Parts: sequence; C-alpha cells; structure tokens
Amino acid sequence: MSTGDSFYITTPIYYPSDLPHIGHGYTTVAVDALARWHRQAGDDTWMLTGTDEHGQKMLRAAAANGVTPQEWVDKLVTESWFPLLETLDVANDDFIRTTQPRHEERVQEFVKALYDRGYIYAGEYEALYCVGCEEFKPEAEIVDGTGAFEGLKVCAIHSKPLELLQEKNYFFKLSEFQERLLELYKTEPDFVRPESARNEVVSFVRSGLKDLSISRSAFDWGITVPWDPSHVIYVWVDALLNYATAVGYGTDPEQFARRWPAYHIVGKDILRFHAVIWPAMLMAAGLDVPRGVFAHGWLLVGGEKMSKSKLTGIAPTEITDTFGSDAYRFYFLSAIAFGQDGSFSWEDLSARYQAELANGFGNLALRTTAMIEKYFEGVVPPASAYTDGDLVIQQTVADAAAAADQAMERFRPDEAIAAIWTIVDALNGYITDNEPWALAKDDAQRARLGTVLYTAAEGLRALAVLLSPFMPQATAKLWIALGHAGRLVDQPIRDAGAWGVLVPGTSVNGLAPLFPRIEQA
Ligand code: MSP
Repeated sequence: MSTGDSFYITTPIYYPSDLPHIGHGYTTVAVDALARWHRQAGDDTWMLTGTDEHGQKMLRAAAANGVTPQEWVDKLVTESWFPLLETLDVANDDFIRTTQPRHEERVQEFVKALYDRGYIYAGEYEALYCVGCEEFKPEAEIVDGTGAFEGLKVCAIHSKPLELLQEKNYFFKLSEFQERLLELYKTEPDFVRPESARNEVVSFVRSGLKDLSISRSAFDWGITVPWDPSHVIYVWVDALLNYATAVGYGTDPEQFARRWPAYHIVGKDILRFHAVIWPAMLMAAGLDVPRGVFAHGWLLVGGEKMSKSKLTGIAPTEITDTFGSDAYRFYFLSAIAFGQDGSFSWEDLSARYQAELANGFGNLALRTTAMIEKYFEGVVPPASAYTDGDLVIQQTVADAAAAADQAMERFRPDEAIAAIWTIVDALNGYITDNEPWALAKDDAQRARLGTVLYTAAEGLRALAVLLSPFMPQATAKLWIALGHAGRLVDQPIRDAGAWGVLVPGTSVNGLAPLFPRIEQA
C-alpha cells in the first residue's frame, strides 16, 4: 500500500474504429512512463486508458461492415486495442469502454445533474458537422474543398466534406464559464501545458465562448438523454466523462475522492475539449477541475500529421516486431521534445537504436558485467579509496537522478531521459579512461580495478532503476544480472541517485545483449 501523494493520469480514450497507429502508441507510452515513474516513487498512482465507442463515426463504420455497432466495437477492442497495451508493455490500472454500464449510467446521472442545475436548455441548431472530428466546426476550421470535393465546404483537418445538420438540440451553457475559465488559467498557470498550448487556449476563451450542443437526435448510437429518450448525448460529453466514471464518480465516493482530480495527457488536436469544455462541465457540476492538461505534439511522417485516413499510419507492431517494445518506448520518448511535433523516420529509429541503445547503454551493461565475471569470478568487488574521477561519477548519478525527477514532474520524459543519459555517457567515458583491462594485468592494481568496476556496476544499478519506467524489459534483465534481490519496480526511484546501494559480494549473472544487432532486411 502506497503512502505517497495521489497521482491519477489518463490517456485520451481512443476511437476503436481506427486501427492503432504509432500516434496513439506515442500518447500511451508517454502516460505509461509517467505513471510508472510515479508508481516507483511511491505515489498513489492510477493510470487509465480506454476506448471511445459511441458516435456517428462508429455507427457508420459498423454499418459499412454489416454488423451492429456493439459487435463492431467489441471486435475492434478485443482484436486491436487490448493487444496494443501488450505490444507496448503498458501497465495500465484500468481500461474503460464507454459502452460499459458503469460509464453509461453515471453519464446520464451527470448530465441530469447539469440539467437540474439549470445549465442545459433546448434549442434549434443548424451547423456544419465533421464526422471525423465528431464536432460542429468553427468558421476557422472550414475550408473550400478541392478535387473531388470542389464546391463543397470541407474540414481543415480531415479534408472531407462537412454535413449540414439541422435539429433540435440540448445545449450546455458553456458561454457562462468564460470568466471562470480565464480565472482558472490565471491562478493555475500550469493548468494547461506547455506554454504554447496555454496561450492558444487562453486566446480561444478570450475571444468568447458559444454554448455547446450536447445532444443528437438523428441517430441512436449513444447514451440516451435521461429526460428525453429521443436524443443521445453528444459523444464528446460522453467521452470526457470517462475520466470521472472510471474512478467511481457516482458509485464509489471513496475511490473518487482518493483519485480525482486527474492529469490528462492529450494530443494537441483535442486540447480544447480537455482544457475548455471539460473543466466547464466539472465546474457546472460542482466538481474539482483536472489537476492539469498537457498537450503533446503530432508525430509527422514524411512531414504530415500521421493518420489512418491519410494512409501514413504505421502500426506499432511494425516497430516492436523488429526493435522490441523497449526501443519503441525509448525512441518516441527521447527523440521528440514532449509538447512539440516530431518527425518519425525508420532511419532515425535505426540510428538511435544502434548508437544509444546497442552501443551506448547495452554495451555498457554488457562489458561491465562481463569484466566482473572475468576479473572477479562474477562477484561484485568492493570499492576502496575513491579518486576525483570516481567522485565525478557519483555526482553525475546524483545530479541526473534529481534532474530526471524534476523533468518528470514537469511532464518532460524527453528531458528526463536526456538527464539519465549523462550517466551512460559518463560511465562509458570512465571505463575508457580507466582501462580496467590494463589494470587487470597488474596485481598491484587489484584494489583499483575493484573500485573502477564497483563504480561502473553501481552506476548501472542507478541506470536500471531510473530507466525502468521507460524500458521495463531491458532494465529488469539488467537488474537480475546485477544479482539484486527484490523486484526492480519496487526500488524507490527518488532515491536512485544515492551511492553505495549495490552490495559488494553480490553475484553477477551472465547478461545476453540487451539490444541485439538488427539484421537489415
Ligand atoms: N476519442 C477521442 C478522444 C476522447 S478523450 C475524452 C479521440 N480519439 S482518437 O482515437 O482520435 O485519438 C486521439 C489521440 O491519439 C490524440 O489526442 C493523440 O493523443 C493521439 N494521436 C493520434 N494521432 C496522432 C499523431 N499523428 N501524433 C501524435 N498523437 C496522435 O480523439
């Protein structure tokens, strides 16, 4: 039982009708690494992910495939979305599906509460809707179609024609929350991160908010509006509520009080829903707003935002089948500044795998354990008098551990990995400088050889602990090779920078290459 602070973190819930691609995988591994970090720090951590299963998009996809929407989503979730978590080695605590009764019933309750509080009214609506976005589009995101769509209005994101919808709708009085939202962004400057996302949200809200249509009557694949069964609840209202229903909103007050509020990690495409509509809904219900919303950038492939509809989608398994899940996680989390767009390319992935994982970290682990086996019969030697060079390593480890923790607090896994990598680089340089293979030839240098290899092994111990949220598999193997008792994931990560944890006399076991050479096809 953990005693630390509550840390509840979420991914967006994904539309199952798209097959998982590396963009979805990116958000998911970022959230998983943040959750693992906090869990290993002893914080009372909860990681949620799931699927967003209602709406017109799903209904149409099911119809096109000749099955009911429920059959359609069940198949996709089972065949594609649960396996994604395994592919990426994700340790989520829960998985919510918006078609589950635990969700549907509480959504009705929530919406009814807003209705009873006077925040919902009936009105007429006529606007252009994008089924891809599941959103009525604002002026700024409507453009003239080209090619086959010449003469039509299309969505700026999906480049597909918009549909003119005219119906009676229920509206949420979003416009009433403008001042309170601006106040929130002011008093909690970290509510929306990074800075660029915050600025965008603030200027959007400053320019004025319109009431939000929150029901649809033209189709029925959704949660019924409790006081008017001819309507279903707008899919985004339904979806956002997953973050609350999954932790016991309306059913388990103790669990809800323990977990809520959450941190939400989202792609910047869905920032406004999370940083504007969602906190306003919560305010209207008298609940706490989220602790924060962090918007990361887009993965670009060939310079374009990757998406299935644009045929640039790459399935995560295409990467993990060759490189493994650790490399996937490491690559996306280290190569892209979290919060900015980043380009994916196979060349970059291969180059970083080779340089940083195989030659950098992997080789350090391999040669350190091999030298302990060779020169000390596989038993970790004690360190004797430390030189200045040894102390520099100790300082590097302490500084890197502290910097990494701060970076994770700021939701910057990329900066955390960069900080931790100073240990890899320093230790590789240290071994080259100290030439243990030369020391081993001189009996008079036996104690010095022990100090050098203890220093390298103890540095590796710190690396295993610090890198375990990012690369759970390789670090677990390294942990076992270093002969440690207990599970790696139980090692307190905020103490990882302390020196002298590895006990001399511990047996080191053989280590196979952590990042084997990839044969080029
Ligand atoms: N169902 C909504 C979210 C509801 S949350 C209450 C949705 N789903 S989605 O399947 O389209 O997934 C959106 C998320 O996937 C993005 O916010 C982002 O986290 C991730 N990504 C999808 N494409 C991406 C890229 N090309 N690059 C990076 N992330 C991407 O929107």
